[in-house]
Amino acid sequence: MNLNLTEEHLTVRDAARDFAQNVLKAGVIERDRDQRFPADEVRQLGELGFMGMMVDPKYGGSGMDTVSYVLAMEEISKIDASTSVCMSVNNSLVCYGLQEYGTEAQKEKFLIPLATGQKIGAFCLSEPEAGSDATSQRTTAVDMGDHYLLNGTKNWITNGNSASTYLVIAQTDPEKGHRGINALIVERDMPGLQVGAKEDKLGIRGSDTHTLMFQDVKVPKENRLGEDGFGFKFAMKTLSGGRIGIAAQAVGIAAGALELAVDYSKERQAFGKEIHRHQAIAFKLADMATQVEAARLLTLKSAALKDAGENYDLASSMAKLYASEVAMKQTVEAVQIHGGYGYVKEYHVERLMRDAKITQIYEGTSEVQKIVISRSVLTD
Ligand code: CAA
Repeated sequence: MNLNLTEEHLTVRDAARDFAQNVLKAGVIERDRDQRFPADEVRQLGELGFMGMMVDPKYGGSGMDTVSYVLAMEEISKIDASTSVCMSVNNSLVCYGLQEYGTEAQKEKFLIPLATGQKIGAFCLSEPEAGSDATSQRTTAVDMGDHYLLNGTKNWITNGNSASTYLVIAQTDPEKGHRGINALIVERDMPGLQVGAKEDKLGIRGSDTHTLMFQDVKVPKENRLGEDGFGFKFAMKTLSGGRIGIAAQAVGIAAGALELAVDYSKERQAFGKEIHRHQAIAFKLADMATQVEAARLLTLKSAALKDAGENYDLASSMAKLYASEVAMKQTVEAVQIHGGYGYVKEYHVERLMRDAKITQIYEGTSEVQKIVISRSVLTD
């Protein structure tokens, strides 16, 4: 497998880095404090082609590969994981799902505005009683002939309030278990859809995470993605790619913490010298750099497999599992290196530590990734 980056990859990475440094950084502490969704920043990401990176240009996308997407996600996440989760859900769950499994009419109607960044998408799988156990969907989509009648509640929905297009997973035929589940495209203005209160979160506080309530929402049959009963497999296939995006987010958070720790260790003096001259700090930095690089390589490997058309389910779960653990561990180390300064908001590193935690939870907890990985190991 070729993991060499091309000139094009480096150009994309540099553009994302410039945007993160010059646009996102200025207001990131305030957005986190005020739980303010980065609406203007996301609009600008759309104009730069970062909201539909892997979508075919004929549907308004940038036509880039997954490696480019991973590089951009890392740079955006170094500075602002609240913005990068919006970008990730739109790109690797919603746009991917529509491009891969949508009909021509669905792509024309729904994919183009999402890929160009005019609209934002959300992916609605989790429920109050169906998180990791995703086959236990309580939301129902009853077949009424020409439409489905959608009823239920979805929890912790990223882009819950800012989205205009929702991909909703719901049970149509409980007797068929996971083969009775469908994926439906629901529009924001469909009567019966209600957006609940915003979650007050530990991290990624700029992202808008909401509960969604569906009460007798009439969803036309032409809004179903794939064949009848394909919804669970749709969700699994889509999440497999989504996990590459979250792995890249975790790499970015960890790499951002490493950069801050390196800079601080060169400025801060203790016991008569810069603190990086003490091995206690230098060895921590060595461990951080090694683990960030290993997480980055696993993430790039999963992206390269996807680009090569090979199976990436195992690789994306490994990348997400490892990168999210590195993000959590190394942001804690970065706070420790900063001492008291690490505990105050002005130094950014405490936010990275809070943001890191969600990467071990969403798009499949670490335990879910271990289910996927152990099943693969045991059947090979
Ligand atoms: N691709 C295609 N099909 C797949 C698949 C994949 N990656 N994974 C499973 N399937 C298929 C299986 O082959 C099986 O089909 P058959 O019966 O026809 O063979 C079917 O799906 C059921 O699979 P399992 O028996 O493996 O299902 P399970 O109940 O044991 O669950 C699980 C497996 C891995 C735990 C799964 O439920 C899972 O991934 N859960 C976590 C869900 C999740 O990630 N939620 C996150 C919410 S979205 C989010 O966070 C977005 C956001 O806002 C940021």
